[in-house]
Amino acid sequence: MSEQSTDAIPAARGAANRLRCSDPSCGTWLSREEGRYSCPRCGQLVELVLEVDPEVARAWPTRWRGRLPGRDASSRSGVWRFSELLPSTPPGVAPVTLGEGGTPLVELPQLAEELQLESLAVKHLGVNPTGSFKDLGMTVCVTEARALRRDVVACASTGNTSASMAAYAARAGMRALVLVPEGQVTAAKLAQALDFGAVVVQAGDTFDEAFGLLRQLAPRLNLYLANSINPFRLEGQKTAVVELMEQLDWRPPDYLILPGGNLGNVSALGKGLSELAEAGLVAKLPHLGVVQAEGASPFHRMWSSGAEELVPEDHPETRATAIRIGRPANWPRALRALLRTRGLTAAVSDSEIETAKRRLAELGVGCEPASAASLAGLRRMRRSGQVPAGARVVLVLTGHQLKDTAYVEEHLAGLPGIRRAEPTMEGVERTLRGWL
Ligand code: F0G
Repeated sequence: MSEQSTDAIPAARGAANRLRCSDPSCGTWLSREEGRYSCPRCGQLVELVLEVDPEVARAWPTRWRGRLPGRDASSRSGVWRFSELLPSTPPGVAPVTLGEGGTPLVELPQLAEELQLESLAVKHLGVNPTGSFKDLGMTVCVTEARALRRDVVACASTGNTSASMAAYAARAGMRALVLVPEGQVTAAKLAQALDFGAVVVQAGDTFDEAFGLLRQLAPRLNLYLANSINPFRLEGQKTAVVELMEQLDWRPPDYLILPGGNLGNVSALGKGLSELAEAGLVAKLPHLGVVQAEGASPFHRMWSSGAEELVPEDHPETRATAIRIGRPANWPRALRALLRTRGLTAAVSDSEIETAKRRLAELGVGCEPASAASLAGLRRMRRSGQVPAGARVVLVLTGHQLKDTAYVEEHLAGLPGIRRAEPTMEGVERTLRGWL
């Protein structure tokens, strides 16, 4: 077996192979072959359980470093190199990978100073094969679909999940079905899904409506669901924190802040952090911060009011379409992640998101609007004192700048922008008068 091949990564030692109900008060074990997303006893979502021995785990960081992408990055995955933390694949089933992971951590010293922080950096998960963090989970999820010999994968989506799923399905030779809310997905995200050959069905006005429909349809049509209720998605997504800790020399930041929609990502990062702590690889957990858009912030409302149940938002509204979600399926496990990490939440307006996105762009960091919510949220958390001065903070950027170019065109005020000129030297110079 060649060292350059993905098969060379020792997947078989993965210990996260047993499925259990994610509600600790139920804890029912399930067989992986059944391919279930929720517990047959209590209806809560299920998750893979990693059994860690800190003695054994001590050797992992060195081993992981030895698997960093080398000369042939396309054959190495920044997710599967953490195979010890992942579900293993049956013999003969190769991971479905596009070389995901290995994303940059970018320091923002000017912004750290502005916000009186010891340090501030962004972990840019938009720098993945299809331009969002979804790829980290999709490689594991579609690999499981392959192991289960399924041939149609399906998701409801605000756009990024569908782009990612369609790519990995194409890679695996599977068919992809996507349900999206009508007129609510950016042109770029739709184009990705279409380009990868997915069937795209527009149904309903919100993600929640499309997702509700798909959950009913899945058993009737024998669809393998690739939404974040799929436990294998979370396994891949959790590797973002493992890679982050490695980049920080295993010294966790004080706060790790990310946007929240269906709340799969915060659940995944929370799971990854808990596992690293159990493995003895980090001495403390960062506080997880979830930022939602004001018009789609049921989780923030629940957390900040101390309520124990989430009240869905039937008409979610925000220009950050990726997180326009009112009925987040993962809220119970997101709640547990926040309780475990003594986390925090914020809700931000569309105009705060715009300001944050502009500030990141001024510093050369592009992202889609939903991602900029994490900076907008941090500003709020600094103002309210939830995040104290002198803290070390990492923001998660979830999607690429090119995911929503219409947004930039709608928000050109104050930028030099596009100017028209006569096609002569004088003509061009005239339009630049006052700027040069
Ligand atoms: N940021 C971006 C860019 C997203 O696309 C999403 C979710 C989130 C944040 C929120 O993550 O749902 O795990 O809390 N997008 C999903 C989709 C819903 O269909 O692409 P979450």
